[in-house]
Amino acid sequence: MSLKTRKINRIGILTGGGDCPGLNAVIRAVTKTAIFDYGLEVFGIEDGFEGLIKKRGRFLSSENASGIINVGGTILGTSNRADPFRVPVTRNHKVVFEDHSQKSLRHFREWKLDALVAIGGDGTLSIANRLASLGINIIGIPKTIDNDLSGTDSTFGFDTAVQIATDAIDRLHTTAASHHRVMVLEVMGRNAGWIALYAGVAGGADVILIPEFPFRSDVICDAVKQRARKGKRFSIVTVSEGAYEFGKSPVIKKVDKKNPYPEKLGGIGERITECIEEKTGLEARVAVLGHIQRGGSPTAVDRNLGTLFGMYAVKFLMDGREAHMVCLRGQAIESIPIGKAVNQLKRVPSDFPLVQSAISVGTSFGY
Ligand code: F6P
Repeated sequence: MSLKTRKINRIGILTGGGDCPGLNAVIRAVTKTAIFDYGLEVFGIEDGFEGLIKKRGRFLSSENASGIINVGGTILGTSNRADPFRVPVTRNHKVVFEDHSQKSLRHFREWKLDALVAIGGDGTLSIANRLASLGINIIGIPKTIDNDLSGTDSTFGFDTAVQIATDAIDRLHTTAASHHRVMVLEVMGRNAGWIALYAGVAGGADVILIPEFPFRSDVICDAVKQRARKGKRFSIVTVSEGAYEFGKSPVIKKVDKKNPYPEKLGGIGERITECIEEKTGLEARVAVLGHIQRGGSPTAVDRNLGTLFGMYAVKFLMDGREAHMVCLRGQAIESIPIGKAVNQLKRVPSDFPLVQSAISVGTSFGY
């Protein structure tokens, strides 16, 4: 059927992958825009693609979408394991993966859905793109605290994570200064250093370590020793969980085989802390911020970006754009084919203005 002739009366909506602040702002905007501007019915699929696979969902009214713009998490629930094309099942005491996409498609049709709004990061949107090729009319909305999705200047959730990490650095500053210690803060971001960079610069970190620039531990130690020589008796190091020493690999905390991203990063902060203590003789401590970065109330920036994305997603869907992802370009909300946005990590370039500014104010990137 041609794109323009598809009639849309009822849309599904799901949130997939790791949660992040701003998801409820998007759900609210999609639901209210769909109902108020287009007279559509909205059906919430629970726990991301798990709800599509297991047929779990419920209708959403404008009341259900009220009072949630400031609430963290997602009222629909999420899953970062569920993939209709790769469902883990136990057969003869062994875990094997089966394709349940046709069953998922059947559920979509039994619910009488005409389109699907998929809110997620790279993993969720890659799955959405495959479902689009099976005939589901899909629009994607980019979400992730990591800000590593190509095709959009920014994702919602990132600003909140940066603010939380910046607050943490501010707090570490006072205890670091009191005890004359080196405080190392490990933040999330997977294989992109956006959170560490933005929070590190905003918090005035002395050393920022990100996966894009493999570090040398001697350079880090020299940076903190030099500060000590100048009478600065404490230092702050912000390290992205995916950062690694030149010639080595990122530190893996655990492997979760059922997860599309099986390798869970974590532990580099601890290693750097030990190394600093050993090589400089200075006292050092580590703090790992972890999932605190994904929890709680979204910032105003993320609420507004979520509202813009949600409203435009419905508008683009009704305009006949299929298998597209809404995106931010400067101040404008546009869309690009999902296929062009996924499977290509957006990483920090070395000539990025914030990197250059950090270097100019004396921050070391450890290389
Ligand atoms: O992608 C978001 C993110 O929070 C990453 O920064 C982090 O590496 C990962 O998810 C953690 O995943 P999980 O919630 O499965 O521990």
